[in-house]
Amino acid sequence: MCGIVGYIGSRPAADIVVSGLKKLEYRGYDSAGLAVLDPAAPSIGLFRAVGKIAELDKAIASHPPASTCTVGIGHTRWATHGAPTVANAHPHLSMDGRIAVVHNGIIENYLALRSRLESKGYVFKSETDTEVLAHLIQDCLDGGLAESVMRALVHVEGTYGIAVVSSDFPGVLVAARKGSPIVIGDCRGEAIVASDVSAIIQHTDKVVFLDDGDVAVLTPEGAELRTLGNSTVSRSSTVVDWDPGAIEKGGFEHFMLKEIFEQPEAIANTIRGRLLLDDGTCKLSGLQLDPQKMAEITNIVVTACGTSYYAGLVGSYAFEQFAGIPARIEQAAEFRYRNPIIAPNTALVSISQSGETADTLAAVREAKRKGALTLSICNVVGSTIAREAGRGVYLHAGPEIGVASTKAFICQVAVLDMMAIMLGRTRRMSNSEGTTMVAAMLRLPEIVKRVLEQNDAIRAIAEKYHQARDFFYIGRGYMFPAALEGALKLKEISYIHAEGYHAAELKHGPIALLDEHVPVVACVPQIPGHRKTLGNVQECRARRAPVIAIATEGDPDIGGLANDVISIPECPEFIAPIPVVVAEQLFAYHMANLRGEPIDQPRNLAKSVTVE
Ligand code: AGP
Repeated sequence: MCGIVGYIGSRPAADIVVSGLKKLEYRGYDSAGLAVLDPAAPSIGLFRAVGKIAELDKAIASHPPASTCTVGIGHTRWATHGAPTVANAHPHLSMDGRIAVVHNGIIENYLALRSRLESKGYVFKSETDTEVLAHLIQDCLDGGLAESVMRALVHVEGTYGIAVVSSDFPGVLVAARKGSPIVIGDCRGEAIVASDVSAIIQHTDKVVFLDDGDVAVLTPEGAELRTLGNSTVSRSSTVVDWDPGAIEKGGFEHFMLKEIFEQPEAIANTIRGRLLLDDGTCKLSGLQLDPQKMAEITNIVVTACGTSYYAGLVGSYAFEQFAGIPARIEQAAEFRYRNPIIAPNTALVSISQSGETADTLAAVREAKRKGALTLSICNVVGSTIAREAGRGVYLHAGPEIGVASTKAFICQVAVLDMMAIMLGRTRRMSNSEGTTMVAAMLRLPEIVKRVLEQNDAIRAIAEKYHQARDFFYIGRGYMFPAALEGALKLKEISYIHAEGYHAAELKHGPIALLDEHVPVVACVPQIPGHRKTLGNVQECRARRAPVIAIATEGDPDIGGLANDVISIPECPEFIAPIPVVVAEQLFAYHMANLRGEPIDQPRNLAKSVTVE
C-alpha cells in the first residue's frame, strides 16, 4: 500500500522524508514524491517521479532544496485511481499551489466533489481522488491550516490517512486519519508522521497511533491531537520494541529469506511466557477473558484474508477438535457484506499480520455491530484491527517486511493453538491432555530449526522444477490449509500458476490436469490422513505427475512413491502445518530466486491491503 512520511523541525526535511519513504518501500508502490518548504521563504518545492525512489532521488538531485527547507511531506503511491504517472503521483497541490497533500485510502465521493469544485473554477491536473482534497482544502480555507483541513474532511466519504503542508502556514504540518493508519513519532524539538512505524523507529521508539477522526497538528514543539470537530483529544503513546536493525536484511539476500530464518526466534517470542506446562494450559492476557468468560463462548467465527485466512483455517480445526466449540472460517470480504448470522455468545477471531487489512477491519466492525465478542491476532502493535477488536494477542514476531507472509503464518497458528488449548481447558480437556499439547508446542523453535536445516536440499529440489508452469499442492485434514498456503507462497513470488486442493478433491476434476509437466507437492506427514494421502500420491504418479512429498523423517513408505522428499520432524497434527509450511516457504523462495523474480516486492502486490 502507499506510504506517507512527514517532518517538521530544524533539520533539512528532504533527507528525513526520503529516507523514511525508503523504509516503506517494502509496502509496494509505483511512484513517489516529496514536497518541501522553507519557513523563511515559503513556497512549495515539489518533486515527483514514476518508479522506484531512486528516480525521486534523481529528481531532487537535479534541483536540491535549500537546507532551510525544514518542513516536508512525502509519499510512495500504489496506484488505485489513475495510472502510475508523474501527474498522478503525490503530493498533490491546490490550484493556487500553496497547499500540498499526500493521501492513503480512497475518497469514495471524489467524483461528486470534483465536479462541484470544477463548477467553481478549479482546474484538475490528475486522475486521482487525492487532488480533490488539495483543492477542497483551498476552498475551505478559513482560519488556520488545521481548521481548514477539518472543514474539508467533513465533506469526504471514504478512507484517508493524510499529511498536509501549506506555504501560507509554514510552521505547521497537519495529519489526519480515517480508515488508513497514521502514526506520530514522539520526538524532541521536531515532529515526524508516517503511515507505518518502520519510517519512524530510526528517530524514536515512542509513537502515538491516531484513531479514526483524529487530526494531528504538528509543530517543531510537538504534536497536538484534535477531533474533526476541533476539540482536543489525547492518545497514549506506545513504546515500539523493534530495533532499527531488525528492519534491515541482516546479511540475507532478501527480507523474505531473513524472515524465514528468523522463525525459530519469532515463534519462541510468540510462545514465550504463554505456555503453562504444569497447568496444561496457556496464558494470553491480551484476551482479557477469565476462564468463566471463555466457558461462555459457544460459537467461533474466524475471519481473515490471504495467508492469515489459511492460518485461521488451521485454527478453526483446532477450536472444534480441542475445545469442542463449533467454529467456522470466513473470508473477511465475504463476511462484511453477506449479513452473516452471529449467534449469541459468538467470538469473532480476526487475524491480520499488519492489523490494517481493510476487509478484515470491516469484518471486525460488522461483527461488533452484530454483538460478537471480537478478538484479534495481529503482529503490529497498536494497529487498527488490534485496537478496534479491543481484545487480542500480539504475535511478537517482529516486523515482517517481505510481502509474502512467512513468520506471521506460523506464529498465528501457534497463537490459535494456544487459544484452542485455553478454551479446551475450560471444557473437557484434562490437565494431562493439555500438558501433552503444551509440551509439543514447547518444541516448536527446535522443530522449525530442523526444517531450516533442509535449506540446501530444498534448493536442490527447486533446481529440478523451477521451470514448471503449473503446480498442484495437496493435503487433507490439517494439511489442507498447509496445501493452500504452499500454493499461495509459490504463486505470489515465482508467478508459477499453483493451486492448493484437498487431496480427496483430485478425483472430482482437478486430476484431469495432471501429466508429467505438472508437479505435485504432497503434504503428507505421519498424522491422521497420512495413509489416504499416500493413496492420492499414487493417483498422481499414475498420471506421470512428479511428486514432491513433505513427509515425516523416517517415513518408510514415501521414498518409494515420491520423486523427491522433504523431511520434517515428527509432531502432532495441530502443529504439523508449521514445519510443513516452513518447508513450502523455502521451496517457494528458491523457485522464485532461481527464476530471478523480485522476491520482496512481487509485481502487483502490496504488503498491507488497506483498500477494498
Ligand atoms: C501473504 O503472503 C500475502 N501477502 C497476503 O495474502 C496477506 O496474507 C493478506 O493480504 C493478509 O494480510 P494481513 O495478514 O496483514 O491482514
